[in-house]
Amino acid sequence: MLPCKWLRTLSVMIFMVKGATGALDLDINDRDSIRAAAKITAKNMMSYYDGHEPGQIPGKLRDTWWEGGAMFMTLIQYWYWTGDDTYNDMVRQGMLHQRGRNDFFPRNSSTYLGNDDQMFWGLAAMTAAELGFPEGYPGANEHNEKKKKKKDPSWLSLAQGVFNTQMPRWDESACGGGMRWQVWPYQGGYTTKNAITNGGLFQLAARLGRYTKNETYIHWAEKIWDWSATTPLLRADGKWTIADTTSVENECRDHGDQQWTYNYGAYIGGAAYMYDLTNGGKKWRAGIDGLLGTTWGEFFKVDNTMSEIGCERSVTCDRNEDMFKGFLSSWLTFTTTMAPWTVDAVMLRIQQSALGAARQCHDDKSCGRRWNKDAWDGTSTMESDMSALSVFSSAMRPFKPGAQPMTPKTGAFSASNPNAGMDEDFDPEKQRNITDRDCASASLLTVLFVLLWIWGFIWTVFGNEQMPQCSPPSCPYA
Ligand SMILES: *[C@@H]1O[C@H](CO)[C@@H](O)[C@H](O)[C@H]1NC(C)=O
Ligand SMILES: *[C@@H]1O[C@H](CO)[C@@H](O)[C@H](O)[C@H]1NC(C)=O
Repeated sequence: MLPCKWLRTLSVMIFMVKGATGALDLDINDRDSIRAAAKITAKNMMSYYDGHEPGQIPGKLRDTWWEGGAMFMTLIQYWYWTGDDTYNDMVRQGMLHQRGRNDFFPRNSSTYLGNDDQMFWGLAAMTAAELGFPEGYPGANEHNEKKKKKKDPSWLSLAQGVFNTQMPRWDESACGGGMRWQVWPYQGGYTTKNAITNGGLFQLAARLGRYTKNETYIHWAEKIWDWSATTPLLRADGKWTIADTTSVENECRDHGDQQWTYNYGAYIGGAAYMYDLTNGGKKWRAGIDGLLGTTWGEFFKVDNTMSEIGCERSVTCDRNEDMFKGFLSSWLTFTTTMAPWTVDAVMLRIQQSALGAARQCHDDKSCGRRWNKDAWDGTSTMESDMSALSVFSSAMRPFKPGAQPMTPKTGAFSASNPNAGMDEDFDPEKQRNITDRDCASASLLTVLFVLLWIWGFIWTVFGNEQMPQCSPPSCPYA
């Protein structure tokens, strides 16, 4: 309690002034300053998460499933760049709880998932494998010894599980290939093929290929890139633009040209892994340089500071879109570790963007979204925090000169299981009563889809969380 009234009034006034203008301090050349800003932002972001608390669902954020994967990926990168392991146990618990049958297709969510949703969790697991993130549930070793339980799946195997369950969904019934955006025919977006789904899977395949040297992944990475380049999703003919969507009805000749940061990040990042994997492949260097050129021109026009031009000026960004700048930040930053000639151009822009993000963040509040504004834009969301956290973590890059995603040769220890996500891995107690042979039968598939549709309907109407397991993801359903 302060001694007299005027002093209290004064302190309230000081607090208000500070509250109004109190952007985060950030000295971009000072490691501790960046760490401190990142730590505050991580804490703000995690104030929206309660999955680690008793009675809550680990890995689940309110009204969204995919954002959990994005959040954990961001936290793994945060740990890698800053060394702060505050959230590691929550990440391990949340990721393992949501792993489904080691494929990040958990039954609670699998009826409404997009391929890109599942893919993001796969990228999170891949990130954990490459950065040497601790494996298993927190305290896994003790736990395993006592209960003689099967070991928790490795991060790498979970990324493989996503790959293994997505590849059968590669769809040649239209456009000569490509992944559809959504998994199920009853979902709006099933007839769309979009950039993040294909670019993200391209990146996942490239990363699996670089880590394991398994030709299957490398082949698929090439194939997804090359297929994308036959559509407006990736104009590799010198234009180097990425359309957000194209549609099956028009044999992928139409294009939804919304420009989003993360689409560019997905393809650039994947190309950097391919460049490294191929010891300097010209194709990949051309892709990186071409797409970076467009990225700078589109998203970094003002003060070299990143802007989500598709929604910021029109003030229409939704919670998904608020995260995209964070993905571009981290993927560009990892690109510099494998495509070293990009480092100056990228880091200049990461640093400017981090300074802009700091202007949008407040010590005690969440961050706003418009990094190229001088003052706080008045918004504050968990997702903007995530983007800010990602760009702060990325700004640590100059203090870790030897940084690079690892492979087993350079110290990675996450074990491979090329069959992950396929049947032998999963709990017989929860065995669904549909076998893979049945899956092959087209007539059964039809019945299955009708049932699914009904389940989906019941679920929507009655909100029944305990709905039965839907179709196994390993079932192809062209
Ligand atoms: C699925 O929902 C149940 C009931 O709410 C919950 O106990 C369980 O943890 C959830 N599982 C996942 C993977 O979210
Ligand atoms: C390579 O990956 C594919 C696809 O996951 C798998 O079927 C195959 O067994 C793997 N090969 C090796 C040598 O691990």
